Amino acid sequence: MSIQNVLENMWRDYLLLNPEAQRVVDTLLAEGERIVNDHIALRTFNVGVVALEECAKPFLALGYEEKDEYFFEAKKLRAKHYEYTADPNTPKIFISELLVNEFSIDFQAVVNSLVSYISDDQVQQTDFFHSGRPWNVSLSQHETLLGESDYGAWMAAIGYRPNHFTVSINNLKKYSDIHTLNDFLKSKGFKLNSSGGEVKGAPHVFLEQSSTVANKVGVEFTDGKKEIPSCYFEFAKRYPLDSGELYQGFIAKSADKIFESTNTYRASQ
Ligand code: NI
Repeated sequence: MSIQNVLENMWRDYLLLNPEAQRVVDTLLAEGERIVNDHIALRTFNVGVVALEECAKPFLALGYEEKDEYFFEAKKLRAKHYEYTADPNTPKIFISELLVNEFSIDFQAVVNSLVSYISDDQVQQTDFFHSGRPWNVSLSQHETLLGESDYGAWMAAIGYRPNHFTVSINNLKKYSDIHTLNDFLKSKGFKLNSSGGEVKGAPHVFLEQSSTVANKVGVEFTDGKKEIPSCYFEFAKRYPLDSGELYQGFIAKSADKIFESTNTYRASQ
């Protein structure tokens, strides 16, 4: 499968969870803008066959190259980003993994039982990150994870689906300033995540980001249904380094805040 097919399939799957992203895209297209995707964020656990480096292999096989590594201490996450350097307009892939061993024994037991449903062969398929939830999970298992990590609870409920796509603000014309873009989106009725301020990052750290608030979806558990926050849409503006090249990395501090876009309590406020 070509990179474009894989990315398109992930986009389609993401829209099923977050149809608002298409409305944002259509709203910007109607303004004469062209949409370039900056990065796609994917999530996993640091356990066995689904650990970050395992999940990255199909992307490396497609021609992506490993770049920087990040640690998000508060959220107990580690991440890496991957670039397709042959075409800078191909979105970067950002994969984070929850450091499960830093949580309670009960938490680890739930995650291990979920991961036991997955074979290495599944993870190595190019469709893995739009294959959905490969495990059965109960409401009480979900609650166990939610008590310690929104990210873990999100993973258990949603499974392997893109967490967010990201509009490159640098490629917009009228809305190439993040504040102008945010004001425009709000004027069109879109709600932005204001945890830690609407704009995370700053020009001096070479990256500014904002995002919509994740919408809620009804998720089936083995013993009932529950509404949970699903996915958000992100906007990223990159600034040039001293070399003149646009910074392509990520900022651990602002991403800690951006992860809160899918927090259950935050989203319900
Ligand atoms: Ni992101």
